[in-house]
Amino acid sequence: MTATRVCTLSELEQDSALRVEVDGVAICVVRDSSDEVHAIGDVCTHGDISLAEGFVDGDTIECWAHGSAFSLRSGKPLNLPAYEPVPVFAVVIDGDDVLIDPAVKKEV
Ligand code: FES
Repeated sequence: MTATRVCTLSELEQDSALRVEVDGVAICVVRDSSDEVHAIGDVCTHGDISLAEGFVDGDTIECWAHGSAFSLRSGKPLNLPAYEPVPVFAVVIDGDDVLIDPAVKKEV
């Protein structure tokens, strides 16, 4: 499978998240304050909550429901109640396009 274009860079505001779906996989795409783009599994591992609805802070995103923050780099939760990581996906930037293949996990 090849990477799918999920959005353009200009559609991603700094410090904000966008929920996209590729091949049935919900992915939270974040452009951080350093303009780095991250892609992690969108579903919080503590409950059925979209992480893209949470709060971006540096290279973390916080679930709005109970406050677990996840590293955008490793997918690991940094505080309870979540304790299982979310997957992290490799992101390819091609010009203005953001491409993700949900089959390709990023090495962390
Ligand atoms: S559902 Fe995300 S921290 Fe509880």
